[in-house]
Amino acid sequence: MYSPLTILKKYLHYRFTSSNGKGHGVHSPFVFDFIDKVLNDKKERVCYKEIESLRESLLKDKTIIEVEDFGAGSSVIKTNKRRIDKIAASSLKSKKFAQLLHQIIEYYKPNHIIELGTSFGITSSYLAKANPSVIVDTFEGSSAIAQVARRNFEKLKINNINLHEGDFAKTFNTFLNNQNRIDFVFIDGNHKKEPTTQYFNMLLDKCSENTILVFDDIHWSKEMEEAWDFIKNNDAVTLSIDLFFVGILFFRQDFKVKQHFSIQF
Ligand SMILES: C[S@@+](CC[C@H](N)C(=O)[O-])C[C@H]1O[C@@H](n2cnc3c(N)ncnc32)[C@H](O)[C@@H]1O
Repeated sequence: MYSPLTILKKYLHYRFTSSNGKGHGVHSPFVFDFIDKVLNDKKERVCYKEIESLRESLLKDKTIIEVEDFGAGSSVIKTNKRRIDKIAASSLKSKKFAQLLHQIIEYYKPNHIIELGTSFGITSSYLAKANPSVIVDTFEGSSAIAQVARRNFEKLKINNINLHEGDFAKTFNTFLNNQNRIDFVFIDGNHKKEPTTQYFNMLLDKCSENTILVFDDIHWSKEMEEAWDFIKNNDAVTLSIDLFFVGILFFRQDFKVKQHFSIQF
């Protein structure tokens, strides 16, 4: 992981070199539409308040749970006793980005949603509430964390989430083998180069022209930046959008040329 100072320098570079978030100078109609209708949609949904109040309670919860740590090879390397409030403060996607994912789902209407890395289910809840008639398959290795997520789904009366518990190396591989096509995936599990590029290669086989892949923390470390470079340059990717804290990939065939955008958000 980069030091906080390096991340700050990289973030400032992104702020100064990326397209402004109003779409000025963006010639792609698809990207302009994305900025206008999705990025700049500031409407508060009813569920935003409910999910954020649950996040607040996690941030105050001092309960200690026993959590498995997953190594680079995806095997459990050790278990740790950790406080719920500490995990909630460090692992969950921020309100701003979780709400962006909700808005992407609402706007592009994928028929099926996948999240790799559930944690306490805060982002899963945003994904599920965006379209209650669509199933969200989410994956978590730690059973104590998964238990908290399940409790949260009950509190929010969410019925369209399947939580798959266990090491991604087993659960996710088996699951993907049984899918013909994938529509939307949020990859927020193992933030290292090898697993990230490996998940991408596995997902690639199942991508169609309407698939959207979102990778978390693409500038978090040198490894993740290398992974993002490798991924966005794959021939099948026709458009990549770098929002610094997440990277979004599209596979549509109606773009004349492949394009990479970095956009302020
Ligand atoms: C960053 S958190 C996910 C946060 C969540 N997407 C959110 O925004 O609310 C990543 C989660 O992935 C799980 N994880 C990491 N590597 C894993 C692996 N190899 N197998 C199973 N779970 C794993 C961790 O236990 C952790 O809870």
